[in-house]
Amino acid sequence: MTTNALITGWGMYAPSRVMTNAELATIVDTSDEWIVSRTGIHERRIAADDETTTMLSVNAARDALAVAGLDPVELDLVIVATCTPDYPLPATSVLVATQLGATRAAGFDLQAACSGFLYGVASGTSFVQSGMYRNVLVIGVEILSRFLDWSDRSTCVLFGDGAGAVLLQASDEPGGMLGFDLFSDGTGCEGIIVPAGGSINPASHATVDARQHTIKMLGSDVYKYATRQMGESALAALRKAGLTVDDIDQFVFHQANLRIINSVQKQFGIPDAKTFVNIEKYGNTSAASVPMALAEAVASGRIKQGDRVLMVAFGAGYTAGGAVVEWTADPARSFLAPGSQTRMGQPQRSLEGAAV
Ligand code: ACO
Repeated sequence: MTTNALITGWGMYAPSRVMTNAELATIVDTSDEWIVSRTGIHERRIAADDETTTMLSVNAARDALAVAGLDPVELDLVIVATCTPDYPLPATSVLVATQLGATRAAGFDLQAACSGFLYGVASGTSFVQSGMYRNVLVIGVEILSRFLDWSDRSTCVLFGDGAGAVLLQASDEPGGMLGFDLFSDGTGCEGIIVPAGGSINPASHATVDARQHTIKMLGSDVYKYATRQMGESALAALRKAGLTVDDIDQFVFHQANLRIINSVQKQFGIPDAKTFVNIEKYGNTSAASVPMALAEAVASGRIKQGDRVLMVAFGAGYTAGGAVVEWTADPARSFLAPGSQTRMGQPQRSLEGAAV
């Protein structure tokens, strides 16, 4: 009998601090009009000084576990996709598992930039389908605000902080993850890069002074590549699932730039009603972007039982990924999440008292 990987839990967490475009215009030479017309972003969330990548992850993960009704002790594996971990060493996933009380779980971090969540879901699905694990938590999380040059208007206006999580569970029931495509092309290394802090350019006074620990981006190169590759990854994932664009009920694209999303929609003739967008509220949250959009799409009734959903992301590297899922869970379970009423928009910052 085939073992399927079903998404049985989902959740998200957005820090409470909202930074509007008007506020950004007081920091760098920009305007609400420029940012909205070029990107679709109206505001983004910024983690508080006392918030960590682990905390954001744990908040999103607690929601996903509550939605699924799973005790954290039952988790077999925690995968955290992030390019902004708490530390270079040890892995954030291990800290997250401990904070959750997932005492039996293995954990590892995964770095594939904005595509990281889809790489995580593909990895988690493989663990489930192989029979090795039954309960795998996949988290996409970023605190990008700590890796931005707040004097560079070409990057600081684009990004935000947040976390999203899904629980993958083994099941004999049909549905769940139907097909994936993962892609990478290192010739794009310079397209989006944090130049220092690794083995090529270790941290020094000089690297700090030159702001080399922050994101540098060749915006228009990235834009052109992303527009093409998002379409190709979408088609490749559909082919692997044996489906076509017309079979998909809802598209959840990486929220990097509304113009990139609109361009993919135009390429395939996808109507707005089938395209979930929340970039206006959160900006580009990299690995957190797809799971945050997925959680909001389900909670808002855009995804129903039996729907087929295509998720596609593109990121630094370059990397890209596509995943098709047949949605099996009752969307009403969204509201079992402790954060569903308060945390989506009015987050809690302390881990204390965040009962599952
Ligand atoms: N406010 C005002 N003006 C600005 C700003 C700003 N925030 N940023 C740049 N400009 C100026 C530029 O200096 C330039 O001025 P100039 O013509 O006098 O030199 C002008 O606006 C146009 O700049 P472009 O770069 O041509 O603007 P474009 O229309 O290409 O939009 C953008 C720029 C939004 C960055 C776009 O290229 C883009 O979205 N790229 C992809 C970004 C992306 O998705 N990155 C994330 C990938 S995922 C990951 O893994 C992190």
